[in-house]
Amino acid sequence: PRCYALVPCAGVGERAGVGGPKQYHPVAGQAVVAHTLAALQAVPRLVATLVVLSPADDQFERHAPAFTGERAWVARVGGATRAESVVNGLAELLARGAQPHDWVLVHDAARCLLRPEWVARLIADCEADEVGGLLALPLADTLKAAVRGADGEARAQATVDRTAKWAAQTPQMFRLGLLRPALASALSDPVSAAAITDEASAIEALGHMPRLVPGDWENIKVTWPGDFALAERLLRTRA
Ligand code: CTP
Ligand code: MG
Repeated sequence: PRCYALVPCAGVGERAGVGGPKQYHPVAGQAVVAHTLAALQAVPRLVATLVVLSPADDQFERHAPAFTGERAWVARVGGATRAESVVNGLAELLARGAQPHDWVLVHDAARCLLRPEWVARLIADCEADEVGGLLALPLADTLKAAVRGADGEARAQATVDRTAKWAAQTPQMFRLGLLRPALASALSDPVSAAAITDEASAIEALGHMPRLVPGDWENIKVTWPGDFALAERLLRTRA
């Protein structure tokens, strides 16, 4: 089977508060997504990387000028949610000749600290697996279940047992022929659609158990305003 990368890049970046899609905000001299795609392009095992853009996107080409060549694919089929963007991208991969037994590695455009070695590790660990898997890390912080107090402030109601709990990252690697129906079925009603926040959750909903491959704490997703400075520091230390 071949391996493809699929990069959802159609979000609006509301939480990042930079007045536009965060994937085009500069960090360490380049747009966030340019760093992400450079890492994926450096993985020889990926036959192509498909970037899913919003149909209205007019910034991608300007911000990712190095994303060219036979292994660089773009589709303007982004949807209203991340899962819709991914499922539309999967249909596009099929239309371009990918087969159901091929692997798809879904990776957030906003995870710009990605290293090619981590992708290679995920592929090596999951290739022989029935289901596939994802990069993830065992939780380090103590977890609190929160409620709003009478004063309107967030308050800890209880401490959630943290043993055997992992934080999911991306890439997440599944067979195209399993992932597409898994996401489509989860998206078919609003309650299950709200419950799938990554690819693995849709696979788990079918009763499968994705493999957890140790990721790296540096594999952050730029989400909040302060994350750009952190990403910048990490990228500059590498250069
Ligand atoms: N994404 C997408 N299509 C959407 C929503 C998100 O392709 N409709 C992508 C984002 O561009 C991002 C990745 O999915 O690369 C992870 O999502 P997230 O971090 O939530 O990004 P945004 O949705 O853009 O940010 P926010 O939730 O703060 O608005
Ligand atoms: Mg979002």
